[in-house]
Amino acid sequence: MKKNLMEGSIAVLDFGGQYSHLICRRIRALGVYASLISYDTPLDELQRLGVMGVILSGGPASVYAPSSPRPDARILEDRLPLLGICYGYQLMVKARGGEIKRATHREYGRATLTIVDHSGIFAGIEDSKIACWMSHSDSPSRLPPSLKVIASSDNTPFAAVRTEEGHQFGVQFHPEVIHTQRGEKILSNFVFQVCKAKRNWDMSDFLDDTLNELSSTLNGRVLCAVSGGVDSSVTAVLLHKAVGDRLQCVFIDHGLLREGEAEEVLHVLRDGLKVPLSFIDASERFTKGLKSLKDPEEKRKAIGRVFAQVFEEFARTSGPFQYLAQGTLYPDVIESGKSSSPASVIKTHHNVGGLPKNLSLEVVEPLRDLYKDEVRMLGGLLGLPDSILRRHPFPGPGLAVRIIGELTDEKLRICRRANKIVEEALIEDGLYDRVWQSFAYVGDDLVTGVLGDERKLGYQVTVKIVESVDAMTADWARTPYTLLEKISARITNEVEGAVSVAYNISSKPPATIEPQ
Ligand code: XMP
Repeated sequence: MKKNLMEGSIAVLDFGGQYSHLICRRIRALGVYASLISYDTPLDELQRLGVMGVILSGGPASVYAPSSPRPDARILEDRLPLLGICYGYQLMVKARGGEIKRATHREYGRATLTIVDHSGIFAGIEDSKIACWMSHSDSPSRLPPSLKVIASSDNTPFAAVRTEEGHQFGVQFHPEVIHTQRGEKILSNFVFQVCKAKRNWDMSDFLDDTLNELSSTLNGRVLCAVSGGVDSSVTAVLLHKAVGDRLQCVFIDHGLLREGEAEEVLHVLRDGLKVPLSFIDASERFTKGLKSLKDPEEKRKAIGRVFAQVFEEFARTSGPFQYLAQGTLYPDVIESGKSSSPASVIKTHHNVGGLPKNLSLEVVEPLRDLYKDEVRMLGGLLGLPDSILRRHPFPGPGLAVRIIGELTDEKLRICRRANKIVEEALIEDGLYDRVWQSFAYVGDDLVTGVLGDERKLGYQVTVKIVESVDAMTADWARTPYTLLEKISARITNEVEGAVSVAYNISSKPPATIEPQ
């Protein structure tokens, strides 16, 4: 049986901050399991689960707003080790009778932190000045007597505090963001010195436990759709190790894949790792239904519908199956503080294209406790090559969302080739692993070019290269001009029909990563 992951862990109560997941990931990287849980989880529940300490995340609310999210008040009393970050810190100050000043402007970016007490979370940090990352509106203006200042910054006199007893801390800055120097040390001091947690999180233990659990609980045949992406590939190989040939994978080619993708997946999974894998070339079925559609959501839905049909046909003809394996990751499953205020649907993301509900298969999600970087580590332990593990994320509907307007054979050919060129150029310059995603997209803009002495209308291709930690926010990559020059020259020289190349410099928000 798999062990209770929460035993000995750190619980991060989620107040909806943009860095909440990052806090969890940083703690796990220290070798201690951390989970992001609802901000109103009662103290008794945390104690029953056996957590060693609690972190209160940041969040967009103001502590004085009547509907602001609040934790179980007993957590703020002096019992469990506690670290409040930003909004979480302000909750601690307010609960102890201090005051929070409503902001007149937002402080965002680097600030200098002056440390005045080098113990507790600052133990072992000799420098008295370090750079830290601020992202807040409100901040404490008066501290209660039970909290002592341990660091200040130019704009925030109470940038970090501790209780007299020394196992509760509050920080206005974000130690989890890489721009905070010694942020890892600050978190590690809290986890190991203050909470006295022990290392309990290691991918090879996780692999052994998961294999034991899967092989002892799955007693029928398992169906798994693979897409070439990291998550479904790791899911497939993991299940193959656990249940052997009772696993059947299916790879449905919708005709909108990256150049060489289908061949690569077959080569690695079927030929190399001997995973039972059926390949279905359904590209005509998909592209036929897509040709007249312009709206991206309509395209997503059409792809989802055909995917479900093809998948169901396969399940019926190759079945019966009892289980359906999916590569769902941790950020997709947790209930966060944000879930109480449903955000509007910006894009309907469907990794496996709306799997049919009426097959009545039991869903198995072995990666549901993991972040992407952990999945990559697990994949490495399972023998998957870097060509799959390090590949940039690719949307389920594939190149359909990188072709603006109607999908034509010509635009698809240009888009696919240009995507490959962008990928090759980044790999060649050693920058592929340093960015989150890189791709090219094409719309209906035709621009005038010259070919020899002749005027020639052709497509404008736009290149996008972004940096991100979790795809929730993203920034355009400040790539060297030499790289952009190489990409531009290769696209206009090598891709018939493309005469001009642009570089997209929008961040998310306001733009999204994919153009559609
Ligand atoms: P956006 O474009 O919303 O994308 O900023 C965030 C991340 O999700 C990927 N993406 C998708 N993935 N199906 C998917 O499986 C989709 O329809 C889809 N749309 C976007 C995108 O590539 C980025 O990594």
